[in-house]
Amino acid sequence: MRKPFVAGNWKMHGSKASILSLVTGLNAQADQLGNVDVAVCPPAIYIDYVKRSLSSNAISVGAQNVAAEPVQGAFTGEISVEMLKDFACDYVILGHSERRAIYGETDAEVAQKVKVALTANITPILCVGETLEERESGVMESVIASQLDAVLDVVGIDSFADIVIAYEPIWAIGTGVTASPAQAQDVHEFIRGKLAGLNSAIAEKVIIQYGGSVKPDNAKELFGQADIDGGLIGGASLNADDFIAICKAAG
Ligand code: G3P
Repeated sequence: MRKPFVAGNWKMHGSKASILSLVTGLNAQADQLGNVDVAVCPPAIYIDYVKRSLSSNAISVGAQNVAAEPVQGAFTGEISVEMLKDFACDYVILGHSERRAIYGETDAEVAQKVKVALTANITPILCVGETLEERESGVMESVIASQLDAVLDVVGIDSFADIVIAYEPIWAIGTGVTASPAQAQDVHEFIRGKLAGLNSAIAEKVIIQYGGSVKPDNAKELFGQADIDGGLIGGASLNADDFIAICKAAG
């Protein structure tokens, strides 16, 4: 069936010293990972440093964002997919709610970034999720559906064979308030069902991660839900023991 996938989103955290210590901790326990794909996504400037410091190929490296422009050029401050590829990045997180809310990334921009990542054979981790207000006012499903539709319109359902989806309820990110396993499962089922309406074989294959205050003590129950295939981990991915424990809960 689906192989679970856990990724650490380090966000804008770390220094050479703290990252070396984190990677050293991951290296020491990487052989304990079971049947789970694992990636860490450091700030872009540290990608190569992390790649060179990791001693296990059980842990892949991803980026947290990429330029929407497909080729290099006069785009000050941006990093292209080819550059990520040059440094052997396998994944890129796209459409994280922090990028949508703080940097104003639109559904259309996210969709374009998904398209360029796919072109470079980098797996997009496409984040979707609702605010508490949207959940409480009953528009949660339509919000998530339109985030998915924007990408479906640009790349089509077949491309979802090469896309990971991360459901991250915004109210659960960094708050310590986790969606209950049942709440998360409901949304994961909704997402898979929506894709199944277009192509049931692809819907069955697509990895849907849960993200939002996942910790070692709640990971097992979340990942035990039928449509939850691992997680996208923020805060807890900055601690090697916690992150490995979460990965093991998925495997
Ligand atoms: O992308 C991961 C994320 O937004 C969840 O963060 O700190 O709640 O695990 P956190």
